[in-house]
Amino acid sequence: MIKGGRANFGSRMGVILASAGSAVGLGNIWRFPYETGNYGGAAFILIYLGCIFLLGLPIMVAEFVIGRRSQTNTAGAYQRLAPGTHWRWLGRMGVLAGFLILSFYSVVAGWTLEYVMEALGNGFAGKTPDEFIQSFQSFSSNPWKPTIWLVAFLLFAHFIIVKGVEKGIEKSSKILMPLLFVLILVLVGCSVSLPGAKSGIEFLLKPDWSKVDSNVFLGAMGQAFFSLSLGMGCLCTYASYFNKNTNLTRTAFSVGIIDTLIAILAGFIIFPAAFSVGIQPDAGPSLIFITLPNVFQQAFSGAPWLAYIFSVMFYVLLALAALTSTISLHEVATAYLHEEFKLSRKRAAWLVTGSCMFLGVLCSLSLGIGKGLTLFGLNLFDLFDYVTAKIMLPLGGMFISIFVGWYLDKKIVWEEITNNGTLKVGVYRAIVFILKYIAPVAIGVIFINELNLI
Ligand code: PFF
Repeated sequence: MIKGGRANFGSRMGVILASAGSAVGLGNIWRFPYETGNYGGAAFILIYLGCIFLLGLPIMVAEFVIGRRSQTNTAGAYQRLAPGTHWRWLGRMGVLAGFLILSFYSVVAGWTLEYVMEALGNGFAGKTPDEFIQSFQSFSSNPWKPTIWLVAFLLFAHFIIVKGVEKGIEKSSKILMPLLFVLILVLVGCSVSLPGAKSGIEFLLKPDWSKVDSNVFLGAMGQAFFSLSLGMGCLCTYASYFNKNTNLTRTAFSVGIIDTLIAILAGFIIFPAAFSVGIQPDAGPSLIFITLPNVFQQAFSGAPWLAYIFSVMFYVLLALAALTSTISLHEVATAYLHEEFKLSRKRAAWLVTGSCMFLGVLCSLSLGIGKGLTLFGLNLFDLFDYVTAKIMLPLGGMFISIFVGWYLDKKIVWEEITNNGTLKVGVYRAIVFILKYIAPVAIGVIFINELNLI
């Protein structure tokens, strides 16, 4: 739907689905479990939930306010709302963060395609847990295979973006997202009934506070921002396509609930299964790729055809979830280049796809032949992940809350959140209070502690 020359999401459902499509992705099913494993389980999850509800949701509303009010891309938004100030750097930092995320994200998205193929060819059948570990390691460190998949994935996303068939995706999401949800529920059921799954459930439910340090807080906060697609203007860009009746607070809440539910359920698939087959919970980025095939094999050992169908369906849906998030990441940079530098949309999209392919290939190689090349002890893949999720996104979130809490005219904030007074938003004061005081201070304190600044 085009209104005033700018595209709009068609319906309320479309708004929620597109934003949830951005939020739900590899961050929930791949990154959340491995960060939970890294940081020791239940305590991390509780801190994560705190970050989602106390920081994430109000900041999401703030991004919506900026995007819908300015009706433009994230960098342009600050120029419009705060002309002639340095706030525009906040938008530009967001574009850069999106760019870096897209580079390593597409590597993992490429892995999901390899696993779709494996599942289709019935390649998981009869393998032992050790064989799954080995085959993942040899695949991810291979110089060619992951590279080809990542290029294929980016080209596919690119095609969808320039053809403007996001509408088709929006429509199919109405079926695919609920399907992914049902499949996840089935897999949770399978996983928790595996022998020895109990220790995995305990890992998720019994917090061990003795292991909690500032690192855990930074990890949980970074994961919350990453998973909600916050801090880099992605949802701000999407909100520029919202119409004037969209209820910003309710949309933020719906997206937050859907996203959190899927992440927690993913944890309930991975950990019971990992403990059951003896895979270490802190196996890192490979965790879901070595654990899940085991779930399919073991849970359906009596019915191999079910194992086959479920594994194919799961990896296809995971790849699609990655695709909707990739489109949103791509959109941030494409809209920026298109609107700020007056490039045609097609050119802008090519520029983004081409550069991300280049950086993505470097990230992928840094897990294999380029392993020796490290900076601050991290290879390129981990470095991009660390710098974006743990530094750029929370920093972006902090400045976004300061921008809306302190800089932006109160009247604008009120008009946007209440749709010019037509909505009664009970949590309005709480949101403004959090944006003004809680979010900047909390994020600042976590940073200061982590960087040992005092
Ligand atoms: N939220 C996405 C996920 O959980 O997979 C990743 C992401 C998308 C992060 C868009 C940031 C973003 F702007």
